[in-house]
Amino acid sequence: MIDKINEIKEQIQSFNVSNEKELEAFRLEFLSRNGKVQSMFGLMKDVPNEKKASVGKAMNEVKQLAESTFEKKKNDLSKSSKKDFGALDDITLPVEPTYTGSFHPLTQALDEIKQIFLRLGFNIADGPELEDDFHNFTALNFPPDHPARDMQDTFFIRKSDDENVSDLVLRTHTSPVQIRLMKEQEPPVRSIMPGRVYRNEAVTAKSYFQFNQVEGLYVDERVTMGELIETLVMFARLMYGKDVKYRVRPSFFPFTEPSIEMDVWWENDKGGQWLEILGAGMVDPNVFSAVDIDPEKYTGYAFGMGVDRIALLKYGISDIRTLYENDVRFLKQFKS
Ligand code: PHE
Repeated sequence: MIDKINEIKEQIQSFNVSNEKELEAFRLEFLSRNGKVQSMFGLMKDVPNEKKASVGKAMNEVKQLAESTFEKKKNDLSKSSKKDFGALDDITLPVEPTYTGSFHPLTQALDEIKQIFLRLGFNIADGPELEDDFHNFTALNFPPDHPARDMQDTFFIRKSDDENVSDLVLRTHTSPVQIRLMKEQEPPVRSIMPGRVYRNEAVTAKSYFQFNQVEGLYVDERVTMGELIETLVMFARLMYGKDVKYRVRPSFFPFTEPSIEMDVWWENDKGGQWLEILGAGMVDPNVFSAVDIDPEKYTGYAFGMGVDRIALLKYGISDIRTLYENDVRFLKQFKS
């Protein structure tokens, strides 16, 4: 009998458990109702009375060994399975989602603006951020020392001593690209010109010293103000939906005559307000003359919109500065 008990003991000690299935096999083999430990106790009735005490003790020891071995193997298994991240061999499980980044809200807004104007028959052009005074101001009918230049104070990069060489400035708007295009290309011209611009301005929730614009220019024979307004309204509807609340009001720019501005209603915490999203107008004949286009033959319209403000309105952002802080918690909200 003692041999039998020792045999079971050895079997318990040498039983190999390396996964859930084998753990269950261990339990069935030794600890279940028909398992070896229980059937061992069944043999007690054949043990002579005087040996019952010692045999019983040995049997109890084996039972305890089986139970403690089971607990230990179970623990080991759960520890090691945690280390292996669980059911790694189930290839049908979905992968853990990882944050792969998203497009910046400005990029998303710009992409939408581009799509809309491509649909309306415009192509895309660009020009330098570091401009000369001639393209940024003079050719756009801002004469030197004219007070209209105060509207767009900028960062002057290099002042030229030679009066035939222009000062260098960070461009204050994308309008100089109009000049570059018209110098290069005969009408018809029908382009948008996206890009970054700079102004020496107070930083507030609505304006920043650096921002993005999309310039638009359409030059051909008999281009009208009606077409300009229709295009802008079409843009507002495609960008914000057909119920968008907008208004168009007269304004002034040296390089357009007449000039207008368009506002879109901005719903915010304080109820709401009109936000100017673009300036526009009919290309001033003086601008055509500066680029050798005959103002008697051609007319044209131009507009310049602020991408940052368009993004604020589109995505319900309340402060323009958040667009430049690069806080991932903010950027993550604009998954595209
Ligand atoms: N360049 C002007 C600005 O930055 C906007 C504008 C562009 C107005 C084209 C009229 C025509 O304020």
